[in-house]
Amino acid sequence: MYQLPEETPTVIHLPPSFPSTGLGDDAAFELLGVPALQQAADLAAPDALAHMDPPSAPVAARMAFLVAQANQNMLHPATSPFATEAERIVLDWITPYFGMAWGQFCSGSSLANLTALWAAREAGARRVVASADAHVSVPKAANILGLAYHPVPVDEHGRLIRAELPDLADAALVLTAGTTGRGVIDALSPIAAKWLHVDAAWAGPMQFTRAAPRLAGIEAADSIAISAHKWFFQPKGAALALFRDEATRDFITFKTSYLARPNVGVEGTRSAAALPLLATLLAWGQDGLAERIERCIAVADVLGQRLAEDPRTELKQMPETGVLNWRPVAGGVEKTIAALSGTSSAFTIKDTLWVRQVSANPYADVESIWQRIVATLI
Ligand SMILES: Cc1ncc(COP(=O)(O)O)c(C=O)c1O
Repeated sequence: MYQLPEETPTVIHLPPSFPSTGLGDDAAFELLGVPALQQAADLAAPDALAHMDPPSAPVAARMAFLVAQANQNMLHPATSPFATEAERIVLDWITPYFGMAWGQFCSGSSLANLTALWAAREAGARRVVASADAHVSVPKAANILGLAYHPVPVDEHGRLIRAELPDLADAALVLTAGTTGRGVIDALSPIAAKWLHVDAAWAGPMQFTRAAPRLAGIEAADSIAISAHKWFFQPKGAALALFRDEATRDFITFKTSYLARPNVGVEGTRSAAALPLLATLLAWGQDGLAERIERCIAVADVLGQRLAEDPRTELKQMPETGVLNWRPVAGGVEKTIAALSGTSSAFTIKDTLWVRQVSANPYADVESIWQRIVATLI
């Protein structure tokens, strides 16, 4: 794994505008390379637990460097014969575990959700229904696709209330497996809708762990979004849109004379993001992937237990997918979040601010994080 340099961050002195004469490769790299990394959060630090941003798998980071050097375009298989094959292999390996028939790489789950809801619209969905805690990419996708959007209230834990669902005969229902704010999994049991999409951007890879029963029912979906740059530990720019029915591919495929093969999905040019993912799956195997995700889940569970038992803190609910929401009983939440910089973020539930911590870091150490939490408590 890349180790961030320990020295005090170097100040980066940049020219005030686009220079007419370049500095040269070495000087530009020296100016930006290490200093820019020094000023990045260390997502692998023992106390890093703030966002849904894991450190990249070391082998993925190495592969990503080669991918950037070769700069293949997945739109043109002639530039990327093996990378094209790698996409197929990764999808062939992953899709069956979700009961899906085919899949498409996307640059993120906002795009995976849009891609899936585009297919839903082509299948006849006229509106999008999702919980009030669905990710912002879901109403955004509805807006882009010209579909009405209907948010459904959530219960006290943040789970979509099924009794509040409208008639779904002409709707794409979006259920979330691991909500962004609370990490909650909506009930995934079968439901009649024009289209069922599961946004499993965060919790999807749990399917390879001992916690897989929490995703029971996901295979009934028409489509699923999964971020590879979350719990598959990939560099940014990698997600999957998976589909149950092979025929849906035609809904989102366009042909044109200048392309050797049809363009599937929203994006045109895409990078060979499958190569770092394939390398990771090979390096770790299912056991290695499961072990890392289970470590993340365990860190959140232990912290959740301590926060629930400590009289100085209030835990909103036990974490379901490694996401914690808690508050100090005394002292301001804003102050606590500021003091826990790098190990916490914020989430508001019904006008009340909570400390949010997301266990995306397999190198996290419970004691380091607990010490930081305790240091903020009165
Ligand atoms: C539940 C959920 N869906 C979708 C997304 C969007 O993913 P991306 O940021 O990769 O576009 C996120 C991002 O955090 C998410 O938490």
